[in-house]
Amino acid sequence: MNWKVYVKKKIPSSFLNSVLLKFPYLYKTKLVYFETNLLAENGIGDLLNQLSLTSGVQGVVVECGSSRCGASVIMANYLKKHRIDKKILACDSFEGFDRYELKKEKNMGLTTAPENSFTTTSYDYVTKKLKVLHVDDIVTPIKGYFTETLPNFVKGPVSFCLIDCDLRDSLMFCGEYIWKILSPSGRLIFDDYTSKDFKGAKLGVDDFIKKYENEIQEHGLLNRLYYIVKK
Ligand SMILES: C[S@@+](CC[C@H](N)C(=O)[O-])C[C@H]1O[C@@H](n2cnc3c(N)ncnc32)[C@H](O)[C@@H]1O
Repeated sequence: MNWKVYVKKKIPSSFLNSVLLKFPYLYKTKLVYFETNLLAENGIGDLLNQLSLTSGVQGVVVECGSSRCGASVIMANYLKKHRIDKKILACDSFEGFDRYELKKEKNMGLTTAPENSFTTTSYDYVTKKLKVLHVDDIVTPIKGYFTETLPNFVKGPVSFCLIDCDLRDSLMFCGEYIWKILSPSGRLIFDDYTSKDFKGAKLGVDDFIKKYENEIQEHGLLNRLYYIVKK
């Protein structure tokens, strides 16, 4: 087990959350780095590079699977720094996976993730975090399962969407829903294409590409992120 994960498991999340909220400069340190899961394999570098390519595309930015809103905060800081006037919708149950879907993927041998994965976050925590980091005017957290929240709160147009929800059916639902409201030259970015822990992600992305081949301008694998550009 990675030592960061080990330390996180030992410290109660309520304590960790309150320390971070009290001393927000900690988020910027190398150790915490806004609490995103995308740090390894240049995930953040590739994400921001892809985001920059859509600065002139009409629509909002969406993150499907935000957990502790790390990637959303980093994208918000990028938009601010480059004076790009866009809002971000950070969608998540903020209570982890849909248990039924997780069980299904486990039965199919696609993952061994525990039931309590990504349950140390909460809507209350991310709301406070966005406020202390002064990005609450850019990022809006949207709580609930995607099948409920996307049709109700994400109306489009969308210029850029990071889909980082690990499981195949959720990934496909988000991809297909956002695709319909994605602007021309807009980008979908999928995490976990090469993940051994969530094998459903690659299957979902491959299915998506097959199904929408005629509407895709360009697609490809970066380091860990897979990008798809709409015609
Ligand atoms: C890998 S984490 C996201 C990490 C985040 N993008 C980051 O940069 O740190 C995956 C998230 O997807 C969420 N998720 C998975 N399936 C979901 C669903 N059907 N509805 C809502 N949230 C879901 C989980 O709650 C979890 O927080």
